[in-house]
Amino acid sequence: METLVLKVDKSPQGEKALDKAAEIIKDGGLVAFPTETVYGLGGDAKNPRSSKRIYKAKGRPSDNPLIVHIANMSQLEEIVEEVPEVARILADNFWPGPLTMILKKNKVVPKQTTGGLDTVAIRMPSDEIARELIIRSDCMIAAPSANVSGKPSPTLASHVYKDLSGKIDAVLDGGAAIIGLESTIIDLTSDIPTILRPGAITKNMLEQVIGRVDIDPSILEKKEADKPKAPGMRYKHYAPKAELTIVEGNSSKVVAYINSQVRENDNKGINTGIIATSENANKYIGGNVKEVGSAADEEGIAHNLYNILREFDDTDVSVIYSESFDGDGIRAAVMNRLLKAAGYKVVSADRVAIKRIIFVGKNGSSRSPMAASIFESLDEDKDYEVLARGLLVQFPEPLNPKTEAVLAGNGIEIEEFSATQLSDDDINSSTIIFAMEETLRSKVLEGYEKANEDNTFTLSSYVGGELEIPNPYGGDLQLYGLCYEVLKDTLTKLIDLLKQER
Ligand code: TXA
Ligand code: MG
Repeated sequence: METLVLKVDKSPQGEKALDKAAEIIKDGGLVAFPTETVYGLGGDAKNPRSSKRIYKAKGRPSDNPLIVHIANMSQLEEIVEEVPEVARILADNFWPGPLTMILKKNKVVPKQTTGGLDTVAIRMPSDEIARELIIRSDCMIAAPSANVSGKPSPTLASHVYKDLSGKIDAVLDGGAAIIGLESTIIDLTSDIPTILRPGAITKNMLEQVIGRVDIDPSILEKKEADKPKAPGMRYKHYAPKAELTIVEGNSSKVVAYINSQVRENDNKGINTGIIATSENANKYIGGNVKEVGSAADEEGIAHNLYNILREFDDTDVSVIYSESFDGDGIRAAVMNRLLKAAGYKVVSADRVAIKRIIFVGKNGSSRSPMAASIFESLDEDKDYEVLARGLLVQFPEPLNPKTEAVLAGNGIEIEEFSATQLSDDDINSSTIIFAMEETLRSKVLEGYEKANEDNTFTLSSYVGGELEIPNPYGGDLQLYGLCYEVLKDTLTKLIDLLKQER
């Protein structure tokens, strides 16, 4: 089947396009059309054959009900058992618009359209083209989002064409869908009206006109839920081809975390995509960065999200990291879709646990082993692997005798020690490096690919200490003793800090 692309605008051609599309619907055919939320794939809601064709074109399970799109209140009366007062209030306030209500259906709607349920989802869209199509076809239009099942909903006619060309009769091209996320769905058949899918009409907006509104608990969960009430919310959805991970946490840590992943992936020859807010976009050191909008402009983010997910499908990235958009109102809707797109894969940048600590000194035989062994003696929980390394290790020198003496005097014994040169192989994404002096830190940053501003620090400044750790090399035993005391004090503070950051 050839799929017609019909441009709609105010011109006479636009008028003809609408008439043609209306005719196709009337004849039992399928037309994708723009709405204010996303593009829908429409057929005559009263014609069971049209509904069957919709399921087939989308590759959608036939137990997943369609939304019936109407243009006036008498069409609502025509298909439901009764119109409860709360539905009238909601219609007065939010229709036409991005709100779908679930009500008890009557016999006018075939079960094919409602996936076998005795309830029906109904929406009166505000988009002019959608409304005209309903009116001119003289039909109520059953329409799911016009994507192949599982993909992000289409916000442009080109998205629809990519997914469904050859499978449907026509696409009405009316430009970008303004909102970019599917409608809010509210179930009015339960005792307390319940949101089954968050959208641009928020819980707060609904509660202002009808009082208490609940949210289907499966929406709030950050993991795969057993039984969401809207059948469609059960399926894997919105997913780009690449593996998507959401990174939560303090903004600068999120950037640092994603940058460390980009660096690691670059080394492995893997291309990384990044979904970034405008505020952070230029802080990324590499990767394929796509700006989703300003963090303050939640509507902009909603509008852009699906398009960006689809754009990544046309690139060679195989992993994508997204900043997190948790929050109220439409942010809740954005986050709900993003979580599903990510298959609920979320990591916290604040809590990337440090597993390995490397103390770095100059020759690696006095201060760094001293620091490592003191740290181990203080860290009761034994949460870390602790290494001592040097930057100028010519040969595997034994432990400096004065270091050994001072440690022994404090009840610490080191067995089988030989100095080891720091190597990039020592450093991974859960490593933190502490240099004994600022100059050593600079050398680590210069000389090691895997060392960076986010994992390499000067020990004393990391804990907020004013003094650098004294260099006892060539000094007397007393100086080694002083070094021990300063280290012990500094490392006690360090352990506290690391505990807090966990
Ligand atoms: O914004 C929108 O709602 C778009 C545009 C085209 O109107 N449509 C849309 O349809 O998103 P669709 O089919 O992709 O999503 C409809 C959701 C599905 O999760 C479906 O399971 C749920 O609504 N749904 C439909 N009828 C239902 C019913 N009777 N009870 C519970 N959930 C229902
Ligand atoms: Mg859909």
